[in-house]
Amino acid sequence: MKQQYRLVSSTPKPFVKWAGGKRQLLPIITKHVPQKFDRYFEPFLGGGAVFFNLVSQGRDAKWLVSDLNSDLALSYVTIRDRVEELIDALETHSANYFKNPISYYYKIRESNPKGQIDKVSRLVFLNKTCFNGLYRVNSKGKFNVPLGKYVNPNIVNKENLLAVSATLQSKDISIKCQDFEAAIKNASSGDFVYLDPPYQPVSDTANFTSYTNANFGFDDQERLFSKFKTLDKKGVKILLSNSKSDEIVDLFKDFSDGIIEINANRFINSVSKRRTGHIELLIKNY
Ligand SMILES: C[S@@+](CC[C@H](N)C(=O)[O-])C[C@H]1O[C@@H](n2cnc3c(N)ncnc32)[C@H](O)[C@@H]1O
Repeated sequence: MKQQYRLVSSTPKPFVKWAGGKRQLLPIITKHVPQKFDRYFEPFLGGGAVFFNLVSQGRDAKWLVSDLNSDLALSYVTIRDRVEELIDALETHSANYFKNPISYYYKIRESNPKGQIDKVSRLVFLNKTCFNGLYRVNSKGKFNVPLGKYVNPNIVNKENLLAVSATLQSKDISIKCQDFEAAIKNASSGDFVYLDPPYQPVSDTANFTSYTNANFGFDDQERLFSKFKTLDKKGVKILLSNSKSDEIVDLFKDFSDGIIEINANRFINSVSKRRTGHIELLIKNY
């Protein structure tokens, strides 16, 4: 029988851990967010750390968020529309996982469900139990991360899923699966756009661009820069995160007055320091 869930009022947070997630950089990013804007655009949504933080501040705005990863976009829509069924499916995953973590993890990893709840519960389950919570697919679009080393993973964070669901039900929020260009093309004066693309690699070994099976190459960074300039001319306020790579510094040289260097070490804990520990950029045009 379907269980009934009470709505809990808590602040929504990312429901998945996402590569490049901005949770730890929130203090510095939110410092640079404009006081007022009519519409908020975030076309590289990922786990949505910045979006969830801003949307729960009670601002009077419209929110247009999207991501090209179709499974991720489907997860947002499913949490919005079918959260109780999703929680039930995650409870089942959780019970099965704790009976035999290794075999259950790989069985689910190899599965390719077609139904909406099965697809989304698989994504959340794998995200909570896989190594580092890193979403990565191979060239065929298949999730290929090994099992993580968690002793007691919290597979069903019911309170947060309900808080996310309640938030996303607002008529002022639109969630889409699309390329960033389509997502931001209608932004106009008075709007604010936060851009957090896959980072330009600083070295050959630091390439973490496999969020979808279509890699984000330097031609995409150039395409993004061209949209940045178009929006700038329209009077849109734009804030962009990226690595401090020579290519990005050179691409954005006309906006060098708005480049802020962030020492990510100050915000990221010592374990992940070894992974990323260096300077990142925030680039703004206001
Ligand atoms: C750095 S992550 C965003 C992380 C996010 N800010 C967070 O806190 O979790 C980049 C995101 O861009 C998405 N993406 C990759 N290529 C894209 C494209 N061409 N258009 C829109 N989104 C894209 C990826 O699926 C990924 O979720």
